[in-house]
Amino acid sequence: MNTTNSLMNRRQFAKATMVAGAALAASPSVVLGAQTPRRIRVGLIGCGSVSGAYLPILTQSPFVEVVSLCDIRYERAQERGRRFNVTNTYPHIKDMLAGVPFEFLVNLTDMQEHEHLNRQALQAGKHVWSEKPIANSLAEGQKLLRLAREKDLRLWGAPITVESPQFAFMAKQINAGKLGRLAAAHAHYGHEGPDWSAFFYEKGGGSLPDLAVYNLTSLTGLLGPAKSVSAMLTIVTPERTVENKGRIKVEAEDNAMVLMDHGNGVVSHVQSGFNYFNPHGHDGSKESRYTIDVVGSGGFMGMVGYDWAPLGVDLATQESPDLKRHATDAQGYAWPNGAAMAAECLATGKEMLVTPEHALHVIEIITAARESSKSGKRIELKSTFKWPVVV
Ligand SMILES: NC(=O)c1ccc[n+]([C@@H]2O[C@H](COP(=O)([O-])OP(=O)(O)OC[C@H]3O[C@@H](n4cnc5c(N)ncnc54)[C@H](O)[C@@H]3O)[C@@H](O)[C@H]2O)c1
Repeated sequence: MNTTNSLMNRRQFAKATMVAGAALAASPSVVLGAQTPRRIRVGLIGCGSVSGAYLPILTQSPFVEVVSLCDIRYERAQERGRRFNVTNTYPHIKDMLAGVPFEFLVNLTDMQEHEHLNRQALQAGKHVWSEKPIANSLAEGQKLLRLAREKDLRLWGAPITVESPQFAFMAKQINAGKLGRLAAAHAHYGHEGPDWSAFFYEKGGGSLPDLAVYNLTSLTGLLGPAKSVSAMLTIVTPERTVENKGRIKVEAEDNAMVLMDHGNGVVSHVQSGFNYFNPHGHDGSKESRYTIDVVGSGGFMGMVGYDWAPLGVDLATQESPDLKRHATDAQGYAWPNGAAMAAECLATGKEMLVTPEHALHVIEIITAARESSKSGKRIELKSTFKWPVVV
C-alpha cells in the first residue's frame, strides 16, 4: 500500500458524499406537502472537503436557499459557487456578513476557527450550525450559547449521531431495561488520518474533537452525562505530510483512550486515533464490526458500523439469548444532514434531538481528557444536558 492510499483521502469522502446525498433525496423529512415551505437564507463558510458533503444536501433541501459562500482560500468559494450555482462569494467573513443578506451561517471551517466565526455570526444576528466543535472550551461555548439566547438566535453543532434510527433503537432498549443492570460500554473510531489539512494535527485539533467526538456524543447520549473523566493521550506519529503545509509536526493527540463515569456504577470507554488501519475502509458501507457495544446484567447490544453511518444493531438478552439484528434501515439519516435539518427547524418550528448543551458537554469531556492525560488525575465535570435524549 502506498502512502497516499494508506491515508484518508478526498476520493473516499466524495463517495461518502454521494451516499449521503442519495439518502437525503429519499428522506421522508424533506418530502413536500401541499404548502411550499419557507426557505432559510444560508451563508456557508469553509469550502473545503466537508462542504462537498453538505452542499449537495443543502442545495436540494426545500427549506434552504444557499445565498453565499466564503473561504479564505477564495478560489475554493468560487469553485463551489460555480458547481452549486451560488453567485455571491467572499474571501472573508466580514465581507460575507456585510454582503448579500442571510439568516443562517453554516460553519465548515478548520476546527480552531469555529469559535470566533460562530461568535461573529451570532453578534451579527445570524443563527449558526457549526461543524464540531462549536467552541474550543466549555466556558467559551457557554458564552456563545448565552449570546445566542440573548439575541433570540439558535446555535447547533455537529455531530448528529443521536438522530440515527440505530441510536434510537439502542436508547429504547436501555430505557425499557432490556439490558438489565447497565454496566459498561465501549466505542472506537479511527483511520489513518486526513492528508489534506494541517489543522487536524495542530493545537486544538487531534483525534478527540475530530473523531472521538462522535462516540462521546453517542455514549453520553445512551448512558447519560459523564460525571468524571480519566484519559491517556499520546502521539504515535510525530511528523506528517499534508497537502496544504507539506511536512508538519503533530502537536495534538493522534491516539486517545478516554474513560467516563456516568454514575450508578456505569463506566464507558472511547478509543480514537489517526493511526488505525481498517481493512473495511472508511466510507462506512463495509464496516461490519461493532463500533459501539453496551452490556448489562441482562443483555448485550452492538452497533454494526460507525455511529455516523450505522448499519444495524445486534441485540441478545437473557429472554432472547441468540444475537438478532435490528434497525437495518437508515430511514433517511445521513451524517451531513445536520445543517439542512436545522434549517428545517428554523422554517417549521420542528425540533432536533441534537442540542447545544450536549455538544458543550462533549467539549468539556475533551478538554477534561487532555487535563487528565497531562496531570495523571481523574477530572470531575460540571456540565450536563437534557437526558434521556430519546424517550
Ligand atoms: N472532511 C470531512 O469529511 C469531514 C467530515 C465531518 C466533519 N468534518 C469537519 O468539518 C470541518 C472542516 O473539515 P474539512 O475536512 O472540510 O477541512 P478542509 O481543510 O478541507 O476545509 C476547511 C476550509 O475552511 C477554510 N477556512 C479556514 N479558516 C477560515 C476562515 N477563518 N474563514 C473562511 N474560511 C476558512 C479553509 O481555507 C478550507 O478551505 C472540521 O471541523 C472537520 O472536523 C470534516
